[in-house]
Amino acid sequence: MRKISLLAAAAALCVIAVPAQAADVEAGKAKFQQFCATCHGATGHGDGPAAAALKPKPRPLDDPEWQASVDDAHIKKVITEGGPAVGLSPMMTAWGHALKGDDLDNVVAYIRSLDD
Ligand code: HEC
Repeated sequence: MRKISLLAAAAALCVIAVPAQAADVEAGKAKFQQFCATCHGATGHGDGPAAAALKPKPRPLDDPEWQASVDDAHIKKVITEGGPAVGLSPMMTAWGHALKGDDLDNVVAYIRSLDD
């Protein structure tokens, strides 16, 4: 009996949890504009106002080849730990203090929505 009610509770939790886990591209876009667009550009094209002074410049995140070459774990690591964590420039600083949990997933979903 106890086992059955535990199972029912677990099943109910899954049903509730699924929609909450679906990443929100619009929310991710808002965070991207807030934290990332100065360098990466409003649409991730690498043409933000600060990009001209950057060396190396951020690659266009809407490049399908780059999109295909990285997995979400790589993108999350760059964002939370900064460029040096994956062998890239320290000009890409760590954002783990500002972006975590759903916010981080949403930003990744926004970046993934740019590949066209
Ligand atoms: C101060 C400017 C600056 C800001 C702000 C910034 N970035 Fe970057 N970012 C860079 C630079 C420069 C690179 C390229 C590093 C390299 O190629 O060595 C980069 C690279 C990246 C990459 C590509 C990694 C790869 O595989 O090439 C991702 C993804 C990324 N940034 C995401 C973000 C996100 C998300 C934010 C906002 C939370 C952000 N960046 C904020 C400068 C910035």
